[in-house]
Amino acid sequence: MSNYFINNGANKGMLIVAAVATALSFSQCTPKQTATVSSVPNTTPQADISKGLKDYFNDDFLMGVAVSSRSIRTDSALIIKEFNSVTAENDMKVGIIHPAENRYNWKNADDIVAFAERHHIKIRGHNLLWHKQGADWMFVGPDGKPASKELVLQRLRDHIHTVVGRYKGKMYVWDVVNEAIDDGPDSTVMYRESSPWWTTFKSPEFIEAAFRYAHEADPSAKLYYNEFNSERPVKREKIFKLLKKLKADHVPIDGVGFQAHWTVDRPNAEQIRKALDEVISLGLEVQFTELDITVHTKPAEITPGKPLVDPGYTPEVEAKQIAKYKMVFDIFRQYRKHIKAVTFWNVSDRGSWLDSRGGGSAGDPIPSPPVFLKAYPLLFDVNNQRKKAYWAVVNN
Ligand code: XIL
Repeated sequence: MSNYFINNGANKGMLIVAAVATALSFSQCTPKQTATVSSVPNTTPQADISKGLKDYFNDDFLMGVAVSSRSIRTDSALIIKEFNSVTAENDMKVGIIHPAENRYNWKNADDIVAFAERHHIKIRGHNLLWHKQGADWMFVGPDGKPASKELVLQRLRDHIHTVVGRYKGKMYVWDVVNEAIDDGPDSTVMYRESSPWWTTFKSPEFIEAAFRYAHEADPSAKLYYNEFNSERPVKREKIFKLLKKLKADHVPIDGVGFQAHWTVDRPNAEQIRKALDEVISLGLEVQFTELDITVHTKPAEITPGKPLVDPGYTPEVEAKQIAKYKMVFDIFRQYRKHIKAVTFWNVSDRGSWLDSRGGGSAGDPIPSPPVFLKAYPLLFDVNNQRKKAYWAVVNN
């Protein structure tokens, strides 16, 4: 795959992505810089540039970012200046930290924890149970057949005790269970039934067990249920039902993570408020755990042989994104009593996980064949500079 820019001479970049449907390897594909689309400088006269996001929101909530063992080196200055909470983007997920029954990969997670401690940054643990980036071995029995419920529970307990135990007292939050609710439109299908967790248990027993194990392993960490598309009415009600059940069963749950993988078009303010109100009504705290707002309302698709034209971060999408960021932070501030942290998913538009998903949001189908399209979803641009959306958010 090759991607390249045509400079049209104006203050605008045209990215032509010539996609070859086969042989796409996005891990090797470094996004090139887009041309700056606006001549307005990324600062405003009233801005105090000595402050970072964490200072602007000091009285409201923590400001966080997803990091990797690489970005804590390459982007350390920005991370230290702007944020007071970090989440490991991948390095604490089961399949990565615990890839085989008797093997743990601590190095990257340890590096992130050490970096955060060195700079007095708080750490969210992410995550202990998910249907993706998990460990296949957990579900295979000694005879090579599907493992029994009892064996899977014992492995889950061992995993949680070992990981949460290692970082005991160092994590202020753990995302205990991630995305266990069905994402489809059918309100009668409550749980994600294609997940190996569901196929093993056929009941939400694993969800409750994970919270109890995490609480045993570190009673001081706040324990969260983390989910995406939580503002969509049908899914919102399914999540609400689960939360009510967990509370009724005295499961040690403290909070709910709204992933907040959003687009410039969705969700709307009313949907966000409604979802917040429901969670708060149960006495749970809230974090926005993976915020990004892609400029694309759906992922790009490729017609083989046809180049995909990406207009880049145009003034039109910039204006829509600024308005959206302003709207959501207005709400965050209004709910500051209940919101403990807002975490961005990735550091800057230089590299977002959405870029290799055709620029679409979580929950959107991933284009096949894969399409690389920049999503420009964050508050820092491709040069790690503050965008106008940054100033709209801090000055509102
Ligand atoms: C994503 C990472 O950003 C990617 O690097 C990885 O390839 C897939 O996972 N919901 C979550 C996060 O809870 O852990 C996901 O992170 C994004 C969706």
